[in-house]
Amino acid sequence: MKAIIPVAGMGTRLKPHTHTLPKVLIQVAGKPMLAHILDELKAVGIHDVILVVGYLGEKIINYVKNNYDFHVDVVFQEELLGLGHAIYLAHEFVQPDEASLIVLGDTIFDVALGPVINGNYSSIGVKYVEDPRRFGVVLENNGFIESLVEKPEKPVSHQAIVGIYYLKNSGLLFSCLKELMEKNIRTKGEYQLTDALNLMLQNGEQMTAFPVEGWYDCGKPETLLQTNRDLLARTGTKSPALDNSSIIPPVWIHNSVQIKDSVIGPYVTIAKGVTIDHSIIQNSIISDHASVIRMLLTESLVGDHAVVKGTFHRLNLGDSSELDLD
Ligand code: UTP
Repeated sequence: MKAIIPVAGMGTRLKPHTHTLPKVLIQVAGKPMLAHILDELKAVGIHDVILVVGYLGEKIINYVKNNYDFHVDVVFQEELLGLGHAIYLAHEFVQPDEASLIVLGDTIFDVALGPVINGNYSSIGVKYVEDPRRFGVVLENNGFIESLVEKPEKPVSHQAIVGIYYLKNSGLLFSCLKELMEKNIRTKGEYQLTDALNLMLQNGEQMTAFPVEGWYDCGKPETLLQTNRDLLARTGTKSPALDNSSIIPPVWIHNSVQIKDSVIGPYVTIAKGVTIDHSIIQNSIISDHASVIRMLLTESLVGDHAVVKGTFHRLNLGDSSELDLD
C-alpha cells in the first residue's frame, strides 16, 4: 500500500508564514503538522509515501527524508489544478492492484487507521457536521456510499468528507482521474478528487464511510491555533525546568529554549531555540529561534527567527483615573 500526501498548495491563508515555510511544516503542538500525519502512518506500519509537492517542495522533501525512514517518492505538481490532479500525478508510483491511502497534508486526524487499511472495502473518512454546506458529504445506503456531493445547498447528509481516503482499487482510481482530465471535467475550475470518487462508484467500486473522531484543520490562523489548543489539551504538558518562570498547562516547550521571568500558558507551543524574557504568553505558537521580550501575547503566531520586543510603560496616574491600553 502507498500513502499519497498532497502538499503542493500555496497555503495562501497562512501568509506571511507560508512565504518562507511550506504550510505543512508549520509547528502545531510540538511538531510540524505533517509530522503529526507521518507519525500516524508510521504507527500503523505504512512505509511507502508519495509526496505531491510544489511551492517550497524541497523543504518538505528534506524534512521527511531527514526525519523519517520511509521510502519516499516525489512528484511535482507544477500547476495547481486541484486535488484530483495532484493525486493523479502519483499514478506512476502505484501498482493498479495496490491500495492507496490518500491523506491531505494539512489536516490532522485522530482515527484508528488499522481497521480501515485492513478492511474489505474502500473507505472514506467522515465526521458529522451540523452545517454541511461548506463541505463535501457522503450519501449512504445500507452501509455503503451511494454518492458524494460537494458543498450541498440542501442538507442531504451531515457526514462531511474530512480528507482521508483508503482506496483499494488504485487502477480504477487513476483511470477515473484520467477520465476527468481527458474530458476536462472540472468543478469550480479544478479537477476534484470527489468527482473521480463518484466515477469510481458508477464503475461499481464499493465504498464505505468510517468515522473520524478528531478532525483538526490547520489551514487558517484561527484553526491552526484551535488545533494547537485541542492537541495540547489531549497530550498534556511537556516542558524543561524554567528559570524563574511559571507554566499554566497545557503547554509544549522544547528543551533548548531560554525562558526567564515569564508566564507561559495555557495552550502555548514554543519551538526549538526560542528566547523568552519578561513576557506573558497564552494561546500562541512561537516558532524556531524566535525571540519574545517584554510582551503580553495571546492568539499569536510568531514565525521562525522573528523578534518581538515590547516595552514597560512608565505611568504617573492620578487617583480614580482610567487607562485602557486594549
Ligand atoms: P487546500 O486548498 O486546503 O490547501 O488543499 P492550500 O492550497 O495549501 O491552502 P490555501 O487555500 O492556499 O490557503 C488541501 C491539501 O491539498 C493539497 C494542499 O497542498 C493541501 O495539503 N493540494 C490542493 C495540492 O497538493 N494540489 C492542489 O492542486 C490542491
